Amino acid sequence: MTPRIGIVRTVTAAIALQAKTAPISFAIVIALTIATGSISAIVGWSSQQLFDELARGVAAAGERATKFAIITALVGGGAMAVLQLAAYLDLDTRARITIAVERTLMAKVMSFRGLRRFEDPAFLSRLRLAEEAAHEGPQELTSLAMALLRAAVTVVSLTAVVWAIAPEVAALLGVVGLVGLVTQLLRNRWFAAMSRANVSTQRWREFYRALHVDARAAQEVRLFGLGKLFLGRLGRMSAKACGIELEVSRRGMAIQAVLSVATAAVTAVATVVIVARVVGGTLSVGDVSLFLAAVAGIGTAFAGVVQRIHMAGRNAVTFRSYLEIVALPVDPRGRLHAPPLVRGIAIEDAWFRYTPDGPWVLAGLDLWIPAGTSTGIVGLNGAGKTTLVKLLCGFYELDRGRIAWDGIDIRDLDPDSLHARMSATFQDFMTYDVSAAENIGFGDITRLDDRDAIRSAAALAEIDAPLAAIGYDTILSRTLGDGDDDDEAVGQSLSIGQWQRVALARSLFRGDADLFVLDEPSSGLDAEAEHRIHRMLDARGRGRTRVLISHRLGSLRGADRIAVIAAGRIAELGTHDDLVARDGAYARLFSLQASGYREVA
Ligand SMILES: Nc1ncnc2c1ncn2[C@@H]1O[C@H](COP(=O)(O)OP(=O)(O)OP(=O)(O)O)[C@@H](O)[C@H]1O
Ligand SMILES: [Mg+2]
Repeated sequence: MTPRIGIVRTVTAAIALQAKTAPISFAIVIALTIATGSISAIVGWSSQQLFDELARGVAAAGERATKFAIITALVGGGAMAVLQLAAYLDLDTRARITIAVERTLMAKVMSFRGLRRFEDPAFLSRLRLAEEAAHEGPQELTSLAMALLRAAVTVVSLTAVVWAIAPEVAALLGVVGLVGLVTQLLRNRWFAAMSRANVSTQRWREFYRALHVDARAAQEVRLFGLGKLFLGRLGRMSAKACGIELEVSRRGMAIQAVLSVATAAVTAVATVVIVARVVGGTLSVGDVSLFLAAVAGIGTAFAGVVQRIHMAGRNAVTFRSYLEIVALPVDPRGRLHAPPLVRGIAIEDAWFRYTPDGPWVLAGLDLWIPAGTSTGIVGLNGAGKTTLVKLLCGFYELDRGRIAWDGIDIRDLDPDSLHARMSATFQDFMTYDVSAAENIGFGDITRLDDRDAIRSAAALAEIDAPLAAIGYDTILSRTLGDGDDDDEAVGQSLSIGQWQRVALARSLFRGDADLFVLDEPSSGLDAEAEHRIHRMLDARGRGRTRVLISHRLGSLRGADRIAVIAAGRIAELGTHDDLVARDGAYARLFSLQASGYREVA
């Protein structure tokens, strides 16, 4: 569960972040905000003086009136210039904050130890909101805070002015303004609730939208004629998302309209009252000008804040999600440093399922993987082979039982030190949109620039010649690398089998791993290549512990031991010859495949 963080803490955190990230800009912005907030009152006062001078007689007061006019113009003009400076500083601060927020969020996500969170839709929805915060930072929130400060200064100074002329009018204006604020805050509550409820729909919307533009989806979408279907679904999702937003806006709009009418009515009544007093001789013409300027100023200040609150609504939701994710407790990590694997890995009574009420994938599996040997793992689709690999890597925790690395429970090992002793070609390996050299170099970033070593790894995976032909610096991407930058080579792509060899080369590049895992997508390599690669692994891997998964039983023939997984346990275990002699599941599968090859041949 992610912790819930209140709105006050959210805004406070936004301001604290701003003060920490850009302290000088922040201080200047505050000073400018206070200065610009008081400008309305100064201009109002100055105009009042001007009007009163004029009322006293043009001839006598001409000179002084001009002086007031100049002050008014200078203060007004100065305010505009200062506002420009404030706007620039604001942009500068926002940029810094956005970078800080993005870094913090991504570092937090990288610190998640296992894979569970990446498969939890509710968490992913929250992460999606947080990512939005990483794009824009809490800028609307900090702007809101500044707008509040400016409005407070404006309202207080102007109210003082109106109070001196007509206290009851000042009180009335205050009440209307406050009601407006409170309603807007309420409206934002609905909006926040709606935004959270709407993320899931938004994520479906993005999913369908992505299907329209994704290069991988393009061929199936066209061949199966899915375009119209997806467009329809996108439309429905978009309409649903927008409908929810509009509903909230409708409610808010009605209230806002009533408030606007009320404000106008108050202003009208107040004006009549003031004008009557001028006629009665208790107030001057300058007072009327000051009063009108003050009413307009207060109205604008409130409207500005209300508008800002509205804009900050979404930002509050996203920034709050960001804070909630960043506040997640650090995943517990084992403290022991993983030692070199000398004896072997013991999987003892392993029980595992992906969800608390899902089916057991492993149900009391026991397997001893002796160090320095190769263990082949065989089983039908969905038997749990890949799951076992992920558990060995510590990406999920067992529900029961344990996995021991030379006798130490892997939960007690520092995951980084464990991973440093492993290398793996995963069944769903990554294809990185970077250069061919880096695609292999990522296997051991301490040698990312060692071109010779990279090429040797590529040669072992039988992919050196094709990569040399397109160039090791070529970006392997279908969508990035348009050659715009001088040092950027134009993107090229590889076949699926070639990509798999690149992934294999990447894992071989980590030459000193104690445990090497190869989880084979059988479609990737042709049978002959797979056979050669297994033989190469055997020859090179002597002394290393290898776990090899393949659907082509012939490829595993040379393994020291073969384990057959069925019903969440090891159903058979032995050498190829043992298992064939036993005449069980393995023997049946093997003879099926062998006869298949014979027929084809
Ligand atoms: N991330 C996941 N979340 C939920 N269930 C999963 C997940 N990954 C796999 N499963 C389920 O766990 C079971 C075992 O899957 P696993 O990928 O380990 O099979 P496998 O033996 O590697 O199969 P294959 O030969 O097709 O690669 C399957 O029933 C699958 O539905
Ligand atoms: Mg698998």
